[in-house]
Amino acid sequence: MRAVYPGSFDPVTFGHLDIIRRSSALADELIVGVLINRAKTPLFSSEERVKMLVDATKEFSNVKIEVFSGLLVDFARQCGADVIVRGLRAITDFEYELQMAQTNRIMEPSIDTMFLTTSLQYAYLSSTTVKEVAAYEGDISHFVPEKVAEAIHRRIAERKTGRGVQ
Ligand code: PNS
Repeated sequence: MRAVYPGSFDPVTFGHLDIIRRSSALADELIVGVLINRAKTPLFSSEERVKMLVDATKEFSNVKIEVFSGLLVDFARQCGADVIVRGLRAITDFEYELQMAQTNRIMEPSIDTMFLTTSLQYAYLSSTTVKEVAAYEGDISHFVPEKVAEAIHRRIAERKTGRGVQ
């Protein structure tokens, strides 16, 4: 089974890594798809997000990191994927995820979406809250790998002084 795990990963958190660990144990091959979304201004460029993911997933031999833009189903088709993996944290995720899964399955009936429930200790976690805590100089070591935490603090400091990616 070849699986695609798509997301913004701006940046990768322990919640994402939990889903990567568990879905890579189920699939023969897992391709993590990093969305290049020109409509949003991410904290990190797609290259930086890929680099962080490569570093954080190096222990998993069947995991590859790739970027994509456009429709997820097109990317999943190009990858030859059988399934799309998404994590469900709470009921609040459900409506959006269901809508996305149903739409994707109408566009490509041969690719199913497989939901994994996020492990309880990460059920509250999102990249957005991590960035907010970091913006107020809070401790984010419980939420992201050490190198990612350093990169977030560095980028936020650069942004405050007017440097870094826009
Ligand atoms: O990490 P995120 O931001 O929750 O991931 C959302 C993502 C990347 C899975 C979603 O925005 C996506 O698939 N975007 C690609 C465009 C697309 O296919 N949209 C139609 C889905 S209904």
